[in-house]
Amino acid sequence: MTKKLIEYTVDQEGIGHLVFDNPVEKVNSLSSQFIEEFLTVLNQVEGDSLIRGLILESAKPGVFIAGADIKWLKDLKTREDCYNFARSAHPPFNRLEELKIPTLAAINGICLGGGLEIALACKWRVAADHKSVQMGLPEVKLGVIPGGGGTQRLPALIGLQSALQLSTTGKSLKGSEAQSIGLVDAVLPADNFNQAAKQFLLDKINSNEDISRPWLSDDFQYGINDNEKNPEFRTKMFTMARDMVLKQTKGHMPAPMMVIDSVEKGTMEGFKAGLKAENDAFAEVLCSPEARSMIDLFLMQNAIKKVYGSEDRSIKPAEIKKVGVLGAGLMGSGIAHSAIASGYNVVLKDVSEEALDKGTNSIRGIFARDVERGRMSEEKMNKIMSLLETTTEYDAFKDVDIVIEAVFENLQLKHNVITEVEQYIPYHCVFASNTSSLAITELAKVSNRPENFIGLHYFSPVNRMPLLEMIRGERTLDQTVVTSVAFAHATRKLPIVVNDCYGFYTTRIVAAYIREALQCLNDGATVVDIDGAMEDFGMPVGPITLLDEVGHNVGAHVLSIMKDAYPERFAEDLTRVTVDDDRLGRKNQKGFYVYEKGKKGGVDESTYALFSTRKSLDLMRDDVQERIIMALINEVGFCMGENIVTNYNDAEIGLIFGIGFPPFRGGPLHYVDYRGIDTIVTTLGNLEKQWGVRFKSAPYWIAAMNEKKSFFR
Ligand SMILES: NC(=O)c1ccc[n+]([C@@H]2O[C@H](COP(=O)([O-])OP(=O)(O)OC[C@H]3O[C@@H](n4cnc5c(N)ncnc54)[C@H](O)[C@@H]3O)[C@@H](O)[C@H]2O)c1
Repeated sequence: MTKKLIEYTVDQEGIGHLVFDNPVEKVNSLSSQFIEEFLTVLNQVEGDSLIRGLILESAKPGVFIAGADIKWLKDLKTREDCYNFARSAHPPFNRLEELKIPTLAAINGICLGGGLEIALACKWRVAADHKSVQMGLPEVKLGVIPGGGGTQRLPALIGLQSALQLSTTGKSLKGSEAQSIGLVDAVLPADNFNQAAKQFLLDKINSNEDISRPWLSDDFQYGINDNEKNPEFRTKMFTMARDMVLKQTKGHMPAPMMVIDSVEKGTMEGFKAGLKAENDAFAEVLCSPEARSMIDLFLMQNAIKKVYGSEDRSIKPAEIKKVGVLGAGLMGSGIAHSAIASGYNVVLKDVSEEALDKGTNSIRGIFARDVERGRMSEEKMNKIMSLLETTTEYDAFKDVDIVIEAVFENLQLKHNVITEVEQYIPYHCVFASNTSSLAITELAKVSNRPENFIGLHYFSPVNRMPLLEMIRGERTLDQTVVTSVAFAHATRKLPIVVNDCYGFYTTRIVAAYIREALQCLNDGATVVDIDGAMEDFGMPVGPITLLDEVGHNVGAHVLSIMKDAYPERFAEDLTRVTVDDDRLGRKNQKGFYVYEKGKKGGVDESTYALFSTRKSLDLMRDDVQERIIMALINEVGFCMGENIVTNYNDAEIGLIFGIGFPPFRGGPLHYVDYRGIDTIVTTLGNLEKQWGVRFKSAPYWIAAMNEKKSFFR
């Protein structure tokens, strides 16, 4: 028998208690079973003339209702499914609102999305004075909009500006913040919260408070002050809201705009018209490719959080107490920061005190910004910093459980430090290299314990980039992978585990991306068109800007490794052109763009003349975009076919979080599904005819076409 999600009782004082408690999940969420039970309780309440009031409460600590069950949305396959789903969305909320008795939502913790919409349909809301309380409408983060009346009840209750801000960004509020804008009527002590909430309701009942909702009357006007009721002010406010959304989403996400449209409709034509507009928009947005991609992305991220590192669950992660980091540069200091922030003792080694001071200052700087913003106390920062030990010697590596190497990208130097440090570290210690392009098996050749050897490829800046690409060398044991994956989870990273080759997954893709951008430039495209084309596609920065940011010398070094490893596709290396002119990008203030006092300016037109073989072909932005994206997609096909990437989720998560592939496109395999595998192969064939063998389709794509394969559909 299916276990119940909602309990309903009536107490001796005639107060009905509708208690949310999902017996199998950690959170309460809206699902078809939930709605069915909810409607049954409403029937009971409506038919019971003795009930004096109703409290909606949760028996789950720290959670009221976390929102809709995402799997429920995932199951909507066809347009018809989406429309039917949307059509059935409003009645439960409307019926709750229309009850003839006083109603109260007792919010003890997370109250998001559909959870907040239920609370909004109650007459009053109280929140527990507890840090677990979070209230908001995060639907836009999943590419959808609130579908349970949230776009109308929220502005009707708290005003247009606050509501637009909350519902277009998906931000959530603490209890006290919610009270300050009128979203909750009171914040009550967390101890005996449900009891206090009941007293709140009894007081309201005893004082005969009006339970009508102003927005249900025909003459209701949205707006909580004179400004919000002024038509001119409103017009400006909606324009500003749209401008803000456009700036943030660059027009790629329809959902926040649809939220604004629905709020505006309600404001102009009344609550009921607003609800109808919300319902139509909800049905439409649910079927959008952006929403389908974002919902998949949410599920993929959850799946990645459960990655174990081996099919054999009898292999348990070894305990890591102390971490050694070699190299206190950009990456080493970032890795050390990430480890101490998660409570690990860290010893950081570099060749000079000067390098160590620089690294330590940059670590402290990251925490200091948190202190400045009030996110961390100074005392806590000092406590965390005390976990860090710095040294120019190896002695302190005698008791480390994992070493992460982040010295310069040079095979000989890396071989030297591996040989040196292995004289000190205990035998069980995992050795991880943060190389961005060298093969792990090649690096491990000098190791006397290659089974403990793994690649841990962090991304810069480490404190902001969640991805951790883990590379399994030919001789890496599952035990090493399992321990490293557990370390990744403990330091709040998203681990993907790939097999070994030069550039593994993400670096191969980014190399193809930059390579083709430079080929376009050499064929006559402008820097502005190349970067613009890729920003139009949704990348956070274009490939030329990216090269300026990472440094042309770094790019040239990686491209030369790719050229040796994959000569068919990386034969012509154009990265050297600018390096030979001592153009390194932002780091020496000289790149494809002009830099003044650290600020990026316009394009440095003199760069074009360096490309002596540059043609003047008439390339449109669309051509440029197609070439660069297809170069990237083709390399993904090679990585899949060579079993470097072993599952679809890793292919998507790796590029979204590693190189900024647009999340609303769901990742490269979603993109292949969207275009259709036949189109991908045909397009690659055409590009090969026009631009050469580097576009020759990966055999994986041809096989996928023959099998009529799709990946996420
Ligand atoms: N910069 C990036 O975006 C990025 C991203 C991923 C991976 N990586 C990889 O991380 C590694 C480090 O890159 P980085 O950008 O931090 O370089 P960096 O130049 O900022 O730092 C390298 C540090 O290593 C130190 N070092 C050199 N020899 C050493 C030795 N024998 N013992 C201890 N320390 C030594 C140097 O003094 C320097 O402080 C490289 O392999 C690089 O490919 C870089």
